[in-house]
Amino acid sequence: MKLVVTRAVERRSLGVPADWDVTMWPESTAMPDDRLRHEAADADAILTVLTDRVDAGLLAGSPRLRAVSQVAVGVDNVDLAACTGRGIPVGHTPDVLTETTADTAWALLAAAVRRIPEGRDHVLAGEWGPWRPDLLLGGDLHGSTLGVVGLGRIGAAVARRAAGFSMRVVYWSRHRKPHLEAELRCSFRSFQQLLSESDHVVVTIPLTEDTHHLFGAAALAAMRPGAVLVNVSRGAVVDTSALVDALVSGRLGAAALDVTEPEPLPGDHPLLSFPNCLVIPHLGSASHRTRTAMLERAVENLVCALEGRPMVSCANPEVYTSGAAGGQPAG
Ligand code: DGY
Repeated sequence: MKLVVTRAVERRSLGVPADWDVTMWPESTAMPDDRLRHEAADADAILTVLTDRVDAGLLAGSPRLRAVSQVAVGVDNVDLAACTGRGIPVGHTPDVLTETTADTAWALLAAAVRRIPEGRDHVLAGEWGPWRPDLLLGGDLHGSTLGVVGLGRIGAAVARRAAGFSMRVVYWSRHRKPHLEAELRCSFRSFQQLLSESDHVVVTIPLTEDTHHLFGAAALAAMRPGAVLVNVSRGAVVDTSALVDALVSGRLGAAALDVTEPEPLPGDHPLLSFPNCLVIPHLGSASHRTRTAMLERAVENLVCALEGRPMVSCANPEVYTSGAAGGQPAG
C-alpha cells in the first residue's frame, strides 16, 4: 500500500499501519506539483493539504489511486467531480476545526473593530504620548449587527458566539437554515439586505464557482459605510483588487483576512499598506489540538477508504452511491 504525504509529518504521529509504504515530502515547504504527480503515479492514496492541486490530469496519471484525504475542510483544490467519476472518495476534516476557526474569526473581528493592530503599531512606532480622548476610536461589537455569510458549521459557530456580545445576527447562506435560526437567534436575509444591514460581515462560505469573487466591487460598495469585513473562508471569495479600491476610498472601516488571493501575499502587496487591513497567514484552524485532530481525522478517512469502508468525513459522498467507489478507472 503506497501512501504519498505531501507535507512533513512525524511518521509516529501519522499513525498509519506499519506495513504501509509511506512516501513523505521531507521539507517544510510544499511538495512541488510535478513531484506530487510523479509520486502519485503508483500510489494507492494521497494525503493532501489545501495548496496541492488534485485535478483530472493527476488522477489520469495515477491509475491505482483509491483515496484522496485532505487535511482541511475546504477542498476547492480538488476536482471532486473527477474524483467521483473515478470512484475515488475524497476525505476532509469538518467538525474538528469548527470551533477553532470560529475563534479565529472572532479574534480578527474584535481586533479590527477595536483597532487593536493600529494600537500596537502606534506603540511600537514610539508614538504613544499622553492619553488622548480621540486616539484610535473604533466601532463596537456589542449592540451592533453581525452579518454571517455562509451558515455552515463554522458560520453557525461564529453566530453562536455573537450572543455573548449582545449582537443582532443576520445571515445569508445558499440554503436557508430554519432549524438554526431559532437556536442561534439569527434571521435570514438576502445577500444585498445583509450587506446593507450589517455593521460587520464575517465570510465563512466555501469557495465554489458561484462564490468566486462574491465580494467584488458591487458587494463592497453595498456594505455600510465604515463596515468591517472578515474573511476566514478562501481568499478568492473576495476580489482582492476591489477590496484594495474599497480600502483606498475609505468607505470600508476595516478588513481582517485570514485568507487572501493570492496566498501568500507578496510583502509589497497593496493590501499590506493599509493600517486598517489586518492580514494573517491562513491560521484559521491553527491550534495545537485542532491541527492534531485534523490529521487524525484525515488518517482515519484514509484507513477507512483503503479498508473498503466509507470515510468518516467524505467531501463527495455520492461516490458511495455511484457504484464506483474503490478507485476504478473512469469509463
Ligand atoms: C480548511 O480546513 O479548509 C482551512 O482553510 C485550513 O484549516
